[in-house]
Amino acid sequence: QGQLRGVVALDGPAGTGKSTVAKRLATALDARYLDTGSMYRAVALAVLRAGVDPADEVKVAAVVDNAVLVVGTDPRRPGITLDGDDVSAEIRGPEVSLAVSPVSATAHVRELLVAQQRAIIADAVDHVGGIVVEGRDIGTVVSPDAPLKVYLTASADARAARRTKQDNAAGRQSTVDAALADVQRRDKYDSSRAVSPLRAADDAVELDNTDLDLVGTVQALLELVDRRGLRV
Ligand code: DC
Repeated sequence: QGQLRGVVALDGPAGTGKSTVAKRLATALDARYLDTGSMYRAVALAVLRAGVDPADEVKVAAVVDNAVLVVGTDPRRPGITLDGDDVSAEIRGPEVSLAVSPVSATAHVRELLVAQQRAIIADAVDHVGGIVVEGRDIGTVVSPDAPLKVYLTASADARAARRTKQDNAAGRQSTVDAALADVQRRDKYDSSRAVSPLRAADDAVELDNTDLDLVGTVQALLELVDRRGLRV
């Protein structure tokens, strides 16, 4: 079977199945897994809980300074706590999904979370050997030296359809139209923000999975891992 050596940076917009793919890849490679989006979501939840306007950079900075985030890196049961409280489910709700864009565009939030992410990655590489890290800026900012960077994309329609299915399966009411609007709004916001905008690293492999299912996407990633000789 073999184990991953080093960091796989997996970036891309929402709705590509990135989280599921990243977890399966990490499990198959006996590696750790880090969902950086969950960290931005947990900070957004902290902001909402504090009654702070997500667009108020100064107050948001104070919230993140006082929030204690603990992120799990087991791909079979990741999970995240905020001030000791398991918020894994709550961070997927619509309120957090709305608040997370401005919160994640705050420079101070990114500075703190990127530092925490780098520490988690270094620890995983030291103790386990490999980690699959998913987000928006892993290949460009968090882990620019990662030996494999993949930019996962799919058409906006495909991503909206997947998001709707996911929401409905989780018991959240959703329509494809609403999901498409949300996907487009987040794409625009994430790509146009001043700090660490969403973009592929120059040396990232682009993988468009519009016509691939999850199994096919994981297979394509495993082939990239092997081609780089990262499975030992
Ligand atoms: O992947 P996700 O939908 O859980 O991410 C939530 C938000 O966090 C998304 O709007 C973009 C932002 N994000 C980011 O800015 N940088 C990352 N590395 C990961 C997520």
